Amino acid sequence: MADKKIIAVVGATGAQGGGLVRAIMADPASGFTARAITRDVSSEKAKALAALGAEVVAANVDDPASLARAFAGAYGAYCVTFFWDHFSTDKEMAQAKAMADAAKAAGIKHVVWSSLEDTRRWVPVTDNRMPTLQGKYKVPHFDAKGESDRFFRDSGVPATILLTSFYWDNFIAFGMGPKKGPDGVLGITMPMGDKKLPGIAAEDIGRCAFGIFKQGASMAGKTVGIAGDQLTGAQMAAAMSKAIGQPVRYNDVPPDVYRGFGFPGADDLGNMFQFKRDFEKDFCAARSLETSKALNPELQSFEVWLSRNAGKIPLE
Ligand SMILES: NC(=O)c1ccc[n+]([C@@H]2O[C@H](COP(=O)([O-])OP(=O)(O)OC[C@H]3O[C@@H](n4cnc5c(N)ncnc54)[C@H](OP(=O)(O)O)[C@@H]3O)[C@@H](O)[C@H]2O)c1
Repeated sequence: MADKKIIAVVGATGAQGGGLVRAIMADPASGFTARAITRDVSSEKAKALAALGAEVVAANVDDPASLARAFAGAYGAYCVTFFWDHFSTDKEMAQAKAMADAAKAAGIKHVVWSSLEDTRRWVPVTDNRMPTLQGKYKVPHFDAKGESDRFFRDSGVPATILLTSFYWDNFIAFGMGPKKGPDGVLGITMPMGDKKLPGIAAEDIGRCAFGIFKQGASMAGKTVGIAGDQLTGAQMAAAMSKAIGQPVRYNDVPPDVYRGFGFPGADDLGNMFQFKRDFEKDFCAARSLETSKALNPELQSFEVWLSRNAGKIPLE
């Protein structure tokens, strides 16, 4: 292990980081090994990563000293933030800056920063097609990540900016699964009109990130978008119907209706879907399926993901 390049993985017990740790440890011939960062080394998820042979270390991104220890001696670092744990753009940006600073101080050779577009480049706050949220954002959980790109760029640390996509796992665990309508027919609801939504199996994000680390220095300074498929709501509903063996319809609703659903973050997600709908061309073009597949030959299409996961989708 001593001669292997260590990739320090933030969020290692989560979706993105977990996929990366598993991808690294599944490829012992790659010359890389994973250092899994968690706040609780004794959790079941942390133990499962240790069982794969990953080094598991304790750190909290809110604690710079612990981050410095976790990044020390590493070749690479995977940096991700946790917007839905706290809904705070200020906190997300502070954490991104802390990771960029720690990576710089530790002399990290390659960072992959899990980002998303700053949608205000397309929809300035003065544009009233969607409400401005938290005073200065259109899609807070996108904008704060995109605005944080500069922390990595300005630090001078060699960094690749990774533009992720909508997890299909949201149909299992993020409350976006099909729900029965008044007529008893299942439906998925997204304000996407007839536009395509780039999506990905969450596990594939880490695998693509590993592909970026393997390519090395040539990827520094680049922005790479990834997706496993780009499908309309109607196409996703049709694939889901086939996979679960009962009809699922696609409910297209106006973004305003979605924003009014009232669950925490509904306004942010309503704006997000509207952005993806109204700027479909740019958003899809930034996420090439070919590039994603080249980085991760195991990349799953929606159909393949459904064939492995449809049984886990709650049918309410
Ligand atoms: N859902 C989607 O469709 C989607 C799509 C694209 C991007 N995203 C973005 O993905 C991000 C979340 O990534 P994810 O889904 O991989 O997260 P996740 O599955 O919720 O896992 C995040 C992990 O990070 C750790 N963590 C949380 N706070 C921490 C802290 N202060 N210091 C150190 N570790 C901490 C937790 O581990 P421990 O408890 O073990 O410490 C947790 O397991 C969000 O910012 C979201 O906007 C989501």
